[in-house]
Amino acid sequence: MSAETPSGLLEVHNQETLPPQEIIDLFKVAFGNELYGTDALDELQSQIQKVKTDLYNRDYISAFNSEEKRVSYCCRWSPSRATAYASLFAHFKEIVQVVQCHECDQKILCVGGGAGGELVALASLFTPSREFSNKYSTSRPSSSPKKSLNIHVVDISDWSVVVDKLQRTIQERWLYAGEAQHFRVQFSHNDILQMSEDRLALSELNLITLLFTTNELFAENKQQSIRLLQKFNQFCSPGCYLLITESAGSYSHITVGTKKFPIQFLIDTILLGKKGQDSAGPWQLVHQNDSIWYRCDPKIDYPMKLENSRIFYRLYKKI
Ligand SMILES: C[S@@+](CC[C@H](N)C(=O)[O-])C[C@H]1O[C@@H](n2cnc3c(N)ncnc32)[C@H](O)[C@@H]1O
Repeated sequence: MSAETPSGLLEVHNQETLPPQEIIDLFKVAFGNELYGTDALDELQSQIQKVKTDLYNRDYISAFNSEEKRVSYCCRWSPSRATAYASLFAHFKEIVQVVQCHECDQKILCVGGGAGGELVALASLFTPSREFSNKYSTSRPSSSPKKSLNIHVVDISDWSVVVDKLQRTIQERWLYAGEAQHFRVQFSHNDILQMSEDRLALSELNLITLLFTTNELFAENKQQSIRLLQKFNQFCSPGCYLLITESAGSYSHITVGTKKFPIQFLIDTILLGKKGQDSAGPWQLVHQNDSIWYRCDPKIDYPMKLENSRIFYRLYKKI
């Protein structure tokens, strides 16, 4: 069964999350020196130019090969990604239930999530659900033990400093008083294509995010990328969700035999099985949209440009 999401526009602010300006302010606090120091913006702009050149050349490894480049990428692109992802996550009741779960600890794997957009978005959805902990709480007090959200961020580039800054700022600014310990973040500087199912704890995961990363994985190594999806098929437990996004219309093509297909067809075939065949694949398509906009609120205060995004998404559930 698959459900098509009809609307072509994500909400600027979904009430399940913190407001977009709060999300953007988190980056302003975490990277205050880089954004507001003397000549800071000039220095950031020169690094951003280098990152842009590398990305244009599809040299993804070089794009993130220094601390300065990673920080500049994060300051330039992650704030708008975080606001878009916050709205996108909250758009799915399935993801809201994972992130705000009060019944049991939850585990999320963010593949290629080092730049922090998805991390901050998850925190902006988690924070309002935690009682007594902060000025944003919307939930009622309860006497049951607190449950934790465990986020494992895996990235081939060393984003540890960026992830650490964002995590500390989330814990200090959004989650004070005993709640911070329940928002757990682990960063692995590693190639996802080389990691074992045990290292990734695939069987324990409730959600995997692959946001704006599948094109890169397939460009690096097609066979290993297919193998990664097959590992998800084999080792993820029933009920686990997998969210894939890319920039709408940006999917690279792949040649199989004499024919060229967009990568999304290959991904669907691996996860859902071949169309028209009786045996269903291991995953079910829960929501999909080939083109949905997130437009940033133009009133938001931030010293750099904030991008609108046109997103392709697929949310799958393991059967
Ligand atoms: C275009 S960025 C997207 C960042 C983030 N997910 C977002 O949506 O803003 C792709 C990320 O994937 C990471 N990446 C690329 N190949 C990878 C691999 N083999 N294993 C883990 N991470 C990888 C890159 O280092 C980069 O951080």
